[in-house]
Amino acid sequence: MNSLKHLLPLAAFLALISAPATTRAAGDATPTLTIEANQTVAHVPPTAYGMMTEEINHSYDGGLYGELVQNRVFKDNHHDPVHWSVVTAPGATATITLDNANPLNTNLVPCLRLDTADASDQARPGIANDGYWGVPVLAHTRYTASFYAKTAGAAPREITVAIESNDGATVYAQARVKSVGGDWRKYTVTLKTGAVTPTDQARLVLRVNLPGTVWFNLVSLFPPTFHNRPNGNRVDLMQKLDDMQPRFLRFPGGNFLEGDSIKNRFPWKTTLGDLTNRPGHPGCWGYRASDGLGLLEFLEWAEDLKAEPVLAVYAGYSLPQKSEVIKAGPGLEPFVQDALDEIEYVIGDTSTTWGARRAADGHPKPFPLTYVEIGNEDWFDPSGSYDGRFTQFYDAIKAKYPQLQLISTVGNEQPAAKRVHSRTPDVVDEHYYRAARDFEKDGPNHFEKYDRHGPKIFVGEWAAYENIVPWDKRSAKLPPTPAMRSALGDAAWLAAMERNADIVVMNCYAPMLVNVNPGGRQWRPDLIGYDAIHSFGSPSYYAISMFSRYHGPDVLAATLTGLPDAEVAPLDYSVTRDPARGLIYVKLVNVTDQPQTVTLTLNGVKKVAGKATAITLAADPDETNSITDPVHIVPVTTKITGVATTFTRTFPPHSLTVLELKAK
Ligand code: AHR
Repeated sequence: MNSLKHLLPLAAFLALISAPATTRAAGDATPTLTIEANQTVAHVPPTAYGMMTEEINHSYDGGLYGELVQNRVFKDNHHDPVHWSVVTAPGATATITLDNANPLNTNLVPCLRLDTADASDQARPGIANDGYWGVPVLAHTRYTASFYAKTAGAAPREITVAIESNDGATVYAQARVKSVGGDWRKYTVTLKTGAVTPTDQARLVLRVNLPGTVWFNLVSLFPPTFHNRPNGNRVDLMQKLDDMQPRFLRFPGGNFLEGDSIKNRFPWKTTLGDLTNRPGHPGCWGYRASDGLGLLEFLEWAEDLKAEPVLAVYAGYSLPQKSEVIKAGPGLEPFVQDALDEIEYVIGDTSTTWGARRAADGHPKPFPLTYVEIGNEDWFDPSGSYDGRFTQFYDAIKAKYPQLQLISTVGNEQPAAKRVHSRTPDVVDEHYYRAARDFEKDGPNHFEKYDRHGPKIFVGEWAAYENIVPWDKRSAKLPPTPAMRSALGDAAWLAAMERNADIVVMNCYAPMLVNVNPGGRQWRPDLIGYDAIHSFGSPSYYAISMFSRYHGPDVLAATLTGLPDAEVAPLDYSVTRDPARGLIYVKLVNVTDQPQTVTLTLNGVKKVAGKATAITLAADPDETNSITDPVHIVPVTTKITGVATTFTRTFPPHSLTVLELKAK
């Protein structure tokens, strides 16, 4: 509890962040931010702020995707039914085994076989699933449980379905299926909890009342989902994403697009339709992907947040395990066709093959699509084949969909030799994982140096870290989400991108989601953390939200003068205007451990209201949020006075502030 906000009594904290000015030591110059309110130097595109996502850190399975049963189709391990256990009953015995001889269909071959002896109405053995680090039990909640089952012999039997404590002593919710018989069939029940104390120390249990054999497959348990979508997403996480007001969703990767080899690339065609048609596939981050969150679910996720999909199509190169590539030429053609089919699934009308398939899957209306990214991080391709591969995709996609903007995965932060030269990409994707200090050092003059006549820039992955690079194993010892120190670096970088919105047309932090349980993560830092029940946003989450929520469409000319000559500037800034709403947003980042007083001068306005709003995120750089202290560091909104065409204001140490000024 020693962020600045908590170190100081609340009144003192508010006084500090709302003080109109403080005195400075004699001889110190006061930095001046001069804003030319009638000079728009760039426009912030409506899709400037968005999200990047892939299956990493249990982002979907054990994260956003609502499914609560882990290993629901028994494919996570070829030898053992991991996450499943046998539940015995007094006087009755039971065993479970993986069985490949009784497939549900060709996609779902292995199933779980339960053999029981002496089972009865009074003594019911069964199977239990331990969920993703526990099954979350919430009060007064309706869960939907479903499973496929068949029995040996025709005698029907009853199966009870329950959410209960791990020791079986407490049953939180229960339902029964009266007659399960000899052929594979799907059974669905609703489980309703009462006034329970929330816990994740629980499991899903299915019990039988007769001896014999029962086979199970696709055993599922869903809590209520965002917008009540069947097969939908977790409510608290979707709400956090919605609160950021993202306007695009880049998916499905990242490395998850590539897979750990060509054969394990994101298999979008087998992520469609009924869950029994989805075999799942090996992910590239150490665990299997159920593909329950498949292509349509990505698109609907974006739709639910009023965000536009930014679709990454597989471009013939896979990095994670060993570099594998299909070079340009006839061998690449099936991959190009696959990308065309995928785009047709997203935007084709229902007279097209894949548009019709989308309609059959429940979404006749085409989705909006402006940007398609060709591959992921193709600068890693040692064969240097990206130029040719990009060209082959570019020509085919532009021929069919000239309206689409095509993104190259090799940007200006990579050596010129690795970039695309045979075609001019509409946009290039640049990735920046950097120490917070490096963002602060580089931010003031990075994009300012860019050629304004070249492709637009999509900063499709970026994040500040404190000391240890994300791919260094030692980062596993740090908390999963970044501390305030990183949020300051992030804020400096956000200011740099916003100031240069004429060229940096979109940006998104990566990775976005992390399950904080032991073994849940493969990368740090991550924006939003969670366990089975709780979730929290990191300070960086709030910094990004402040940028995405508080900006106008016009970037104003502004200069910050009077700064000391230092390696790292103490202050970063960005100024935007929303003429329709009569608002000017001034963002100031103070990366130092001292309050910074700034004179703000607004030229080109007739009138500025004396009262304004300040939104401030300030904390000790080592502090962060966590499962147990989720809102330790959050933005604080205050009303301020004394605003004029020239006024001074003091910005607290280690802070990001947005001033929302009313000006005509
Ligand atoms: O964001 C984590 C990984 O970093 C992404 O999968 C990859 O594109 C990048 O190297």
